[in-house]
Amino acid sequence: MIFRTISSLQDQVLVWRNEKAKIGLVPTMGALHEGHLSLVHEARRQCDRVVVSIFVNPTQFNNLSDLSAYPRSEHEDIQLLSGIDAVFIPSPQEMYPYGSISRLHVGGIAERLEGQHRPGHFDGMATVVMKLFNISQAHVGFFGEKDWQQLQVVRQMVLDFNHIISITGCETVRDPDGLAKSSRNKRLSQDERHKASMLFQALSLTADSIKNGKDVDISEKIGKNILQKSGFDRIDYFEVCYAQTLVPAADLTKPCRVLAAVWLGDIRLIDNVSVPKL
Ligand code: PAJ
Repeated sequence: MIFRTISSLQDQVLVWRNEKAKIGLVPTMGALHEGHLSLVHEARRQCDRVVVSIFVNPTQFNNLSDLSAYPRSEHEDIQLLSGIDAVFIPSPQEMYPYGSISRLHVGGIAERLEGQHRPGHFDGMATVVMKLFNISQAHVGFFGEKDWQQLQVVRQMVLDFNHIISITGCETVRDPDGLAKSSRNKRLSQDERHKASMLFQALSLTADSIKNGKDVDISEKIGKNILQKSGFDRIDYFEVCYAQTLVPAADLTKPCRVLAAVWLGDIRLIDNVSVPKL
């Protein structure tokens, strides 16, 4: 069923709460693909009732042209979600009515990598996610590892604000050549789509290099070289970091992650892989 107002969804979740149903929330910005659907699938497996939100959240875009270029396919999304208990599709006015002034600020792990290159992005993301937690009253929230830093910021926010919700991280879903599924992939030309698959190659070979005993500098260089040779227009970052704190890794026996953001034309791609345990 489709809900476009906060109050109608709140009435519904109250009924489910009274029935002692376990509620799962899958926040999305729509233009759904198999990555999103894997989260929905996991939510259905774990929960009695599932709320999927579709909201292109203006406060997390630090660039108006990115916001207006963001793909939207509400009709197809609704079809892909047939059978879901609640599909929440609020308008920007519904989520941020005139007079709404409160915004979250996330520091620390939100300030590096994506936070550095997209100032304010995580503040907007955290604000809307907290609103969605409150509106849906969910017991479990489902987030993709594709946005690894986002997942860590959400986990930290839950701790900081004592939200009574548990967070499940779901593995990245990829095309056969390794490119992580993303709504932005739809905008890649054929040539760009071909180059894009090299991002996963670069990340994987860097992780392999660390696994094979090479140090961080050499391993990062291997990955960056691949990106440069493959014709990416710009690298925002390509770094081996501690998986939880996202600080540059030094002790490689701790859980680490290779994270990257790169550009092809005006399209920005992000991805990450885990470093196998040494
Ligand atoms: P969006 O980019 O639509 O992604 C929604 C969720 O799907 C996120 O948790 C993201 O990590 C996950 N996801 C995207 N691609 C994936 C893939 N290939 N494999 C697995 N999971 C994938 O992330 C957002 O929206 C927004 O920031 C949001 C959390 C909805 C707040 O506005």
